Amino acid sequence: MRALVWHGKEDIRCDTVTDPEIEDGRDVIVKVTSCAICGSDLHLFHNLIPAMLPGDVMGHETMGEVVETGRGLNGKLKKGDRVVVPFTIVCGECDQCKRGYFSVCQKSNRKKYLADKVFGHGTAGLFGYSHLTGGYPGGQAEYLRVPFADSTVQKVPEGIPDEKLLFLSDIFPTGWQAAVQADIQPTDTVAVWGCGPVGQMTIRSAILLGAEQVVAIDHLPERLEMAEAAGAITINFEEENVVERLNELTGGEGPEKCIDCIGMESHVSLSMPDTVYDRAKQIFMAESDRPHVLREMIYVCRPGGLISIPGVYGGLSDKIPMGAAMNKGLTFRMGQTHVQRWTADLLRRIEEDQIDPSFVITHEAPLDMGPEMYRTFRDKQDSCIKVVLKP
Ligand SMILES: NC(=O)c1ccc[n+]([C@@H]2O[C@H](COP(=O)([O-])OP(=O)(O)OC[C@H]3O[C@@H](n4cnc5c(N)ncnc54)[C@H](O)[C@@H]3O)[C@@H](O)[C@H]2O)c1
Ligand SMILES: [Zn+2]
Ligand SMILES: [Zn+2]
Repeated sequence: MRALVWHGKEDIRCDTVTDPEIEDGRDVIVKVTSCAICGSDLHLFHNLIPAMLPGDVMGHETMGEVVETGRGLNGKLKKGDRVVVPFTIVCGECDQCKRGYFSVCQKSNRKKYLADKVFGHGTAGLFGYSHLTGGYPGGQAEYLRVPFADSTVQKVPEGIPDEKLLFLSDIFPTGWQAAVQADIQPTDTVAVWGCGPVGQMTIRSAILLGAEQVVAIDHLPERLEMAEAAGAITINFEEENVVERLNELTGGEGPEKCIDCIGMESHVSLSMPDTVYDRAKQIFMAESDRPHVLREMIYVCRPGGLISIPGVYGGLSDKIPMGAAMNKGLTFRMGQTHVQRWTADLLRRIEEDQIDPSFVITHEAPLDMGPEMYRTFRDKQDSCIKVVLKP
């Protein structure tokens, strides 16, 4: 089959690889009808997440049709079922899965011993996301093997286009969880850093959850316009001082809720000197992440406020102002999304037309144009916000 394969830093190719096969009774094979490129894939593209190996198949936002089934699915899935495949692989029966903490499932990461060493304790298996999370081949491919399929996939009905459903696999639940875990109150100002696909889903979720005002921060005009169309007030960080503007919008008190939809690769600019410092340390491998936004959020957040972090961090972040965070009494909530906790409810909201996540798509292309589309998405060329690939 054809698949997008990681060969090293900034080197992704569309190769012919071996077709996946059923390896366990709870497996299914999905024939992929649509897949997408995520901001998280860019961290792999830049080789900033450890434990990628040449030959690894990329991709963790995937949907399609079940074409083969294992023998241990307890009648829950059959050939022909239409499914969205969340990026988190979950056993459905361990202690963490039972609590709904799916992204830290204790059983699905077949290389848990690696993550045990790096993080202290292993986390869930993820598709196409390094050997720290199991080294599972991803879904930017013609076919995908889904382990623990009866707990992992979300069945979806016929008659709704892929484009409306695909993002149940990742960015829609991610934006939703980022907003839900911020515990939004009707009087809250919610500030969202980053208006990429995750930021866009977060902004719309915060509005659906009833925030008084949502403020969106980025520097790309087309992304700010999309945020504005949802009802957000926007700040272009290249034209305005983010801290001053946020204080101005909140009577000098700062936003109650701050959400980081950027993560480890904050934009580098001389106007934000700390980002140059982080970039230099990254080059010498003395720091893995560029946490400019974390610093800014801690500084501007209202005392007693909350910081929600869906943005991915990979390893070590320097110069985090813990003094300010501690003395201001801030709460931090973060994590890879517990996707399966939200999919059924969010599917219902799509079916009821509360939201149509396809608004974020700017580019659709065949799978073999994937390598080119990684660059277009990374460089924000052609006003690219979200790419869907068709195998
Ligand atoms: N927690 C999860 O489960 C989960 C799931 C999906 C994605 N993510 C993470 O979410 C993050 C965003 O993903 P995406 O697909 O939206 O990526 P993206 O790269 O398209 O978007 C990032 C946006 O942040 C903006 N930005 C950069 N520096 C900024 C700054 N200092 N201030 C304001 N804006 C700034 C960029 O211009 C860009 O528009 C990534 O780190 C990704 O790994 C996490
Ligand atoms: Zn993702
Ligand atoms: Zn589990």
